[in-house]
Amino acid sequence: MTADDAQGPEAEELEVSEAQIAVHWKEEEFYYPPPRFIGQANASDPAIRERFTEDKFPECFKEYADLLTWDEYWHTTLDTSNPPFWRWFVGGRLNASFNCVDRHLRTRPNQGALIWVPELESDETVVVTYRDLYRRVNETAAMLRDFCGLKTGDRVTLHMPMVPELPILMLACARLGVIHSQVFAGFSGAACGGRISDSQSRVLITMDGYYRNGDLLDHRVKADEAVARAKEEGQEVDKVLVYQRHPGRYTSKNPMVAGRDFFVDEVMASYEGQLVDPVSLPAEAPLFIMYSSGTTGRPKGCQHSIGGYLSYVTGTSKYYQDIHPEDTYWCAADIGWITGHSYIVYGPLSLGTTSVMYEGVPTYPDPGRAWRIAERLGVNIFHTAPTTIRMLRKVGSDEPTKYDYHFKHMTTVGEPIEPDVWRWYYDVVGKGEAVIVDTWWQTETGGFMGSTLPGLEPMKPGSCGPAALGIYPVIYDEDGEEVPRGSGRAGNICIRNPWPGGFQTVWGDPDRFVKTYYEKYNKDPESTDWRDWPYFANDGATQAPDGYFRILGRVDDVINVAGHRLGTKELESASVLVEEVAEAAAVPVMDELRGRAVEMYISLKPGVVAGPDVEEKIAKVIENEIGKVARPKNVWIVPDMPKTRSGKIMRRVIAGISNFTDVGDITTLANPEVVEEIRVQVQKAKEARGEVPRTLSEREEEELEAFGQAE
Ligand code: WT7
Repeated sequence: MTADDAQGPEAEELEVSEAQIAVHWKEEEFYYPPPRFIGQANASDPAIRERFTEDKFPECFKEYADLLTWDEYWHTTLDTSNPPFWRWFVGGRLNASFNCVDRHLRTRPNQGALIWVPELESDETVVVTYRDLYRRVNETAAMLRDFCGLKTGDRVTLHMPMVPELPILMLACARLGVIHSQVFAGFSGAACGGRISDSQSRVLITMDGYYRNGDLLDHRVKADEAVARAKEEGQEVDKVLVYQRHPGRYTSKNPMVAGRDFFVDEVMASYEGQLVDPVSLPAEAPLFIMYSSGTTGRPKGCQHSIGGYLSYVTGTSKYYQDIHPEDTYWCAADIGWITGHSYIVYGPLSLGTTSVMYEGVPTYPDPGRAWRIAERLGVNIFHTAPTTIRMLRKVGSDEPTKYDYHFKHMTTVGEPIEPDVWRWYYDVVGKGEAVIVDTWWQTETGGFMGSTLPGLEPMKPGSCGPAALGIYPVIYDEDGEEVPRGSGRAGNICIRNPWPGGFQTVWGDPDRFVKTYYEKYNKDPESTDWRDWPYFANDGATQAPDGYFRILGRVDDVINVAGHRLGTKELESASVLVEEVAEAAAVPVMDELRGRAVEMYISLKPGVVAGPDVEEKIAKVIENEIGKVARPKNVWIVPDMPKTRSGKIMRRVIAGISNFTDVGDITTLANPEVVEEIRVQVQKAKEARGEVPRTLSEREEEELEAFGQAE
């Protein structure tokens, strides 16, 4: 929508929702997949869509489940008797570790399963073959079982960086049916501690350090904070297992705690060569928990199943990532996120391919690093996020041309990609030879929800494409009316049907699962017909006449910084830990590199005078509570927050100020006069710092418009 429209009748009404605003995107041209790609694609039969039409649901997903090796075949494909707690492949039994490791032993023992590239270029790349993987997963499982006392159904928290020990640990847990909860290494000790207590883990597994931008970070210090935080919240940790980034040379400044902390290398010596039978588990047993931020303070533990999840990520890895065993596949995400779980570890290894992991920053020590890795290892499938693509372009827009690598396939994931950035990815990174999939999905969905089939459907920059196979979306407005299909009008995208990769519940909080994702559009709470239970993705979207979806971003208050989803409530709760702070509001500000950055607006307690250090204190507490990635770009101490008469902070108004966009109608606020005061204060300071943004795209304005309206 244009700036003029923004002041039109819709914007006058404060409660107007994104769903009611018509959007007029400029339509992009289609790009067609290169013939060479089509010739070798896993999904090459145009009839594939027919195998997944709605009348074939849910049996269509048998095709994905049949990619796995089952100990016992299931008797019921989908059980809907306790909605919305769907059960897939009921009666089936399997083991995820067996499927990702053992079953490839006979066919490709000496093929690389993982190739690990350390950040320092002088350090040697490590190839973990399927045979090595088998041995190491078994030994690790023996240690988890016999030394840690972990058994099926227990939870264990991993706070591991990007090293091969992380996927090995995950697969060792899966072998025993122990539920892993991996916390992104960049998260703080406090954030890790909160997740330990939420998942009731007694064991924490971490590493002393890892490399980032050439520095060996002290990661082990976070374990002490994590254990302390978990204890405050009532969860005792009995054992902390510590891997050493440089075996035999402990690098953390914090000493090991006697009786609690153990070096893995020392413990593992007793388990050398041990084999552990994979435990045959029901398809619906949990495989892992992955935390995702939401509107309220506490992150949600998304619980994923063994059978449904593994089927779904294996099927989508095959058809959408086009993975063949002989490919060399590099997903540059972190395994600490769902992308890494699904599309570095479980999907690729289940298909028996070679999955590359990189420890560090893709532009370290220079802008050519990523492309050197691709050239040296012969990577032919490349997978990353728009934030990384923007960074690579900024620091070295010609670099890819200097290296002799050839991608057949590339992925973009995690946030909307600007068409201009998409074209650079296609022309320069992909050299015009690679097909691109723009995959829309979420921590909650386990695997792709929207994407083109790479060999069969044309690409459209900025659109994810149609729904994935077997996924039937609908766009609703706020009142539950269906937004006409293909109308280009924005609304809330929902998935009408269950799918095997969907999370099973919010760990320990089934009510929240129902409330956040199903209550809004449920048609009949008594119904056991899945058709009455659309899944509310909490994303805004439009659908073009050609059926392609454009995802507009979250409708709730989440700020997506470089692909990390930060809850506004989490940021605000952290800020009010600072003594002087009365109220805090977090808003996104458009940032060339990171997509979005965080800005905090703070009002102080009455009578308190802002000391010079209060801004830094707030930034620090956010870093400590959440992580460095959440550090605000600016902290503004303001006289008061703009509020509605019912006392809600109008984040949308503040976001308008931070981004130099229209603040909208403020006449219904309790204190409209404060808006101009803050605007002058903040924008003057920004101008002085040279932080005036470029003109925003319609989509960005649309996103800001929607921001803060979910409350
Ligand atoms: C949110 C999910 C997807 C796995 C990694 C992030 C946004 C995701 C796209 C895309 C536009 C996208 C959505 C979604 N998003 N993919 N291709 N185009 N937006 O998982 O942290 O759970 O975030 O990321 O808003 O809801 P996540």
